[in-house]
Formats: sequence, structure tokens, C-alpha cells
Amino acid sequence: MAYLEVRGLRKSYGTRSGLTAVLGGVDLTLEEGEFVAVVGYSGSGKTTLVSLIAGLIAPDRGEILLEGVPVTGPGPERGIVFQQYSLLPWLSVRGNVALAVDAVNPGLPASERRRITDEFIALVNLTPAAWKRPRQLSGGMRQRVAVARALAMRPKLLLMDEPFSAVDALTRATLQDELLRIWGERRSTVMLITNDVDEAILLADRIYPMTPGPDAVLGPAIEVGLPRPRQRRHMSLEPAYQKARQALVEFLRAARTAR
Ligand SMILES: Nc1ncnc2c1ncn2[C@@H]1O[C@H](COP(=O)(O)OP(=O)(O)OP(=O)(O)O)[C@@H](O)[C@H]1O
Ligand SMILES: [Mg+2]
Repeated sequence: MAYLEVRGLRKSYGTRSGLTAVLGGVDLTLEEGEFVAVVGYSGSGKTTLVSLIAGLIAPDRGEILLEGVPVTGPGPERGIVFQQYSLLPWLSVRGNVALAVDAVNPGLPASERRRITDEFIALVNLTPAAWKRPRQLSGGMRQRVAVARALAMRPKLLLMDEPFSAVDALTRATLQDELLRIWGERRSTVMLITNDVDEAILLADRIYPMTPGPDAVLGPAIEVGLPRPRQRRHMSLEPAYQKARQALVEFLRAARTAR
């Protein structure tokens, strides 16, 4: 049994004009310590998939097992970085991270909780901005707070829904490099949602392409054969990169035409 098992996941949304069948039977596995990406077009059902695994919504059919235990609701063992900024505007960077640390470690002494909070703020290079409020931060800094907050809860599984989509390309590259470094240091189990093929290849061990909806499914996983630690420079020249990219782009193109 895999660390995370998703089997036959189906989900529809009901509206006045009828039912939208978003997910049409999604299967996915994730091993402990693995970094998996899901790549798909806008509107295909990626956030729906994340919300199901997070336990924020319930599937119509299928099951989600984390270490063999069915997911029936949200829990601190699954950390989420949302597509939109989701920081509490009245709290500082420290306050936002501390809230998460305090929530999952009620038994720890205050000094120890403070130490953990500072550790994760430093991990995303935000120590100089620790007392700023979200509105005083750039988009990239806000996303780093969201990443620190999710990691500080030491989740078994980190779910990231297009975490860098709202920042410019240069900042995005910096954040990707930072995530690569953090993951290299900690080897957490990560599921990253993205619409960026190169981002997926740079970061992931395996990539699932998602067909456009309605009734979206995941294609067979594509292995990224690039060795680690990875460097963004020169990567596009490697045969393993080109092979993964071609497989991914071909699947996504064919899936769109077939729709
Ligand atoms: N709460 C909801 N009620 C009704 N329809 C919804 C709801 N949430 C999403 N949908 C519909 O489900 C489909 C998939 O949405 P979802 O947000 O999962 O896509 P996505 O792949 O995350 O897109 P994007 O890349 O733009 O974030 C869309 O057609 C969307 O309109
Ligand atoms: Mg989405």
C-alpha cells in the first residue's frame, strides 16, 4: 500500500443549470518522501482534487487513504498552501506562522513553540520581515509565509495548489529554487499542483498529467529521470528533461484534442 492512495475519485458540482462532472475517476499514489506534481489546464479540476485530499469537500465516489486511514475531513497532518493568499491580515508574519505552530503543539512550552516558529520563518528567508503584516509584503513574500506556515505544522503530506501562480516569472523562479532547497533538506511528502510544465519537471520525482474536464482523469505518471540536487541552469539540455517534457506535452495536447 502506498503512503497516499487515491482510488476512483469522482466529484460533481450541482448548479441551477445542472450538474458539472468535474472529476471522472481519479487514481493516484504517492510514496513517503516523494515529490509528485499534477499538471493540467485551467478549469480541469486540480483545485477540486486538492480540496478532496485536504478533506475540505467530500467525494461522490472513491476513496482517499493516508497511511491506510480513510480521509474524512481536514486534519493537521495535511498542510495546504492555497492558490490565493490566505494569510490573516491582522497578524504579522510571526503571528501567522505562530498560530499554526501553536495549533498543532498545544503541549509544548511557549519557548519551544517560539523556537519552531522562528526556525520556519528563517527557512523561507523572512526573518527580517517577521513583524510585518501581509499588506506590507510583496506577493512572493506572502507565498513564502504560506509555505512556512504549512511546513511549520510538520504535515505528513504537503499539498500545494499552484503556490506561485500569482507572482511574476523572476520571483517564481526564486521561489521554485527555495522550495527545491527546502525539500532537499527535509524530504517531506509533497503534492504540487501546477499548470507549468517546466516547474513540474524541475521539482517533481513523478508527474501526473490531468485531462481537461468534464470527467477529468489523470494520465499515467511520467517519471522525471533527472538526478538531484537539480540545478535550473543546463537542465533543459539534459535528455531526461527533454524526454519528460515531450511525454507530458504530448499527453496534454492529445487529451485536449480528444475532448
Ligand atoms: N464550488 C463550486 N461549485 C460549482 N462549480 C465549481 C466549484 N468549484 C469548481 N467548480 C467548477 O469545477 C471545474 C474545475 O474547477 P477547479 O477549480 O477544480 O479547476 P482548476 O484545475 O483548479 O483550475 P485553475 O487551474 O484555473 O485553478 C470548473 O469548471 C469550475 O467552474
Ligand atoms: Mg485551481
